[in-house]
Amino acid sequence: MLVAGNWKMHGNRAGIAHLLEVLSTTCRDFDKVDIAVFPPSLFIQQTAEALNQSTIQFGAQNLSPHSEGAYTGEISAAMLKDFQCDWALVGHSERRQYYAETDEIVAEKFAGAQKAGVQPILCIGETQQQREAHQTMEVIGHQLTTVLDVVGIDAFLNGVIAYEPVWAIGTGLTASPEQAQEVHGFIRDQLTKKDADVAQSVRLLYGGSVKADNASGLFAMADIDGALVGGASLKAEQFTKICQQAQR
Ligand code: 13P
Repeated sequence: MLVAGNWKMHGNRAGIAHLLEVLSTTCRDFDKVDIAVFPPSLFIQQTAEALNQSTIQFGAQNLSPHSEGAYTGEISAAMLKDFQCDWALVGHSERRQYYAETDEIVAEKFAGAQKAGVQPILCIGETQQQREAHQTMEVIGHQLTTVLDVVGIDAFLNGVIAYEPVWAIGTGLTASPEQAQEVHGFIRDQLTKKDADVAQSVRLLYGGSVKADNASGLFAMADIDGALVGGASLKAEQFTKICQQAQR
């Protein structure tokens, strides 16, 4: 199991110091679950220092698809590695939606992170409109295939994919465990068609309004191997409870 907290554009130095201090203690004994936090990039150095003695891992919410050069405002995969980032989110729906990230750009970011030794977490998910039009599997299939075509199935060995239906993000509307499982099962099947061993090694996270009171139902599903948590990851007590439910 892997429980990841995406803090998005929230926090300040004092608040993050406090959150990390509390989590380092409350999550100390969860030895069966990998836990990772994703602060805004400015706070990665602070997070690295605060988690120095902790098993909690950390990563970046985004990275440049380019390895270096004249790209004002961007941060490269090598820079993330330099600051000991274990992980990087790629293709979060907010990046696709507000920053026009295409599947092709997402694939480049995935490949770039991996090349630098930073584990990418590929985020995919359909909008409400697409779900209502019964296009969910088509959209998910396309988002997945575009990356697979660029990086190849072997790049997913021990990899992580987060299924985050856009309509469930920050809305309080969670996909039911059955709805999530249906898509997770589909993703696993798509990967199995390429390589069954790789498919089994991939952790599939669910994201979208995961809270302490709905996590256990989701975690009980066969193909749900953890969660990517937004809002509830900013509250130490909530996030700890979610991690606790993944400890199995
Ligand atoms: P919420 O948990 O706030 O819905 O956010 C989910 C998310 O986007 C995590 O990446």
